[in-house]
Amino acid sequence: MTACEYKPGLEGIPAAQSSISFVDGQKGILEYRGIPIEDLAEKSGFIEMSFLLIWGYLPTKEELEEFEAEIRYHRRIKYRIRDMMKCFPETGHPMDALQASAAALGLFYSKRALEDPVYIRKAVVRLLAKIPTMVAAFQLMRKGNDPVQPRDDLRYAANFLYMLNEREPDPLAARILDVCLILHAEHTMNASTFSARVTASTLTDPYAVVASAVGTLAGPLHGGANEEVITMLEEIGSVENVRPWLDNALEKKSKIMGFGHRVYKVKDPRATILQGLAEQLFQKFGHDDYYDIAAELERVVEEKLAHKGIYPNVDFYSGLVYRKMGIPTDLFTPVFAIARVAGWLAHWKEQLEANRIYRPTQVYAGLHEQGYVPMDQRKSEIVS
Ligand code: CMC
Repeated sequence: MTACEYKPGLEGIPAAQSSISFVDGQKGILEYRGIPIEDLAEKSGFIEMSFLLIWGYLPTKEELEEFEAEIRYHRRIKYRIRDMMKCFPETGHPMDALQASAAALGLFYSKRALEDPVYIRKAVVRLLAKIPTMVAAFQLMRKGNDPVQPRDDLRYAANFLYMLNEREPDPLAARILDVCLILHAEHTMNASTFSARVTASTLTDPYAVVASAVGTLAGPLHGGANEEVITMLEEIGSVENVRPWLDNALEKKSKIMGFGHRVYKVKDPRATILQGLAEQLFQKFGHDDYYDIAAELERVVEEKLAHKGIYPNVDFYSGLVYRKMGIPTDLFTPVFAIARVAGWLAHWKEQLEANRIYRPTQVYAGLHEQGYVPMDQRKSEIVS
């Protein structure tokens, strides 16, 4: 490749050297720090796995207990952040609320000491601890209610569900959410992680790093796809309508939400785990007709698009799981963000360890030597 060859979407171009996660898109393998995602989903918890991602090794019992205790201690948010969030319009998207609130944390913790491990640790703890509280607070406040304080006796995922629904969650739902957080925590050089690393490379504060990544995650081609999946299943409406709906969508060259991936050319291993979790939830809390539509859609999409390597991605089944837990559709992406904060922070730390500011190049495709046209000689070029 020459220095001037332009690849849209930077496909195939390494943007960092990283030891955090690994994907083999042909074999459907995902590992965090060398550990298969299936093992972590079965045996680990979100906080333990966050420690693994960020510090690069599985914590001892004492290290994990200390990390969990620190996170528990920092779960509350300052009343000024709460008051600021109260002024957000209730019609605003929760991802926009989250991006603004994450950035606002930087106002309160403005000392920037990127070479101090104590500062790094505190920033990691604060962000992991406070993001779920902010997501739940916005949800309650937009309904006109006061936010619920976190409960120290509840674990991370259980506490989030408690703050969201104002009641203690069923243990199976809490464990399943914990696994969902593990599955969404990290995924190599995706758009929001790239965004986090670019922001980190300027040596700005970690709250700005997370805020920029949240903004990037919000788009429908990235984290926002899980919301769109539910809207799509709603639109399809019945198992019988799957095939005609799909034929029509493909004819119009629409992207089928929750399918396809830049890296995976087989079924995303996270989608397989999530499908199993969805089934467990339905067994305990009752069937969901959307699941039948989803299963049929997966079957027909495979029939028509497998030759292009289009299979379900992580977003296809996650929405069904969250829906069954009573999480509103527009909170699906914020829940994704709660998980992905762990990966962004791991990349922030890794970027700082061998930093060079991102400053890529471009292929200029514009004009030269045009001269300045006086106002009275210009013609409007707007076509609309
Ligand atoms: N439905 C139908 N066709 C598809 C889809 C899809 N979901 N995804 C890709 N294709 C086709 C595309 O039309 C193209 O066909 P052709 O070569 O005939 O023109 C070919 O596959 C390559 O597609 P692409 O758009 O060049 O692929 P990409 O690597 O640029 O995009 C993607 C990857 C994930 C943005 C895309 O697959 C997509 O838009 N999927 C739907 C949105 C979605 O589910 N996003 C979540 C991604 S996973 C989680 C995350 O990253 O947040």
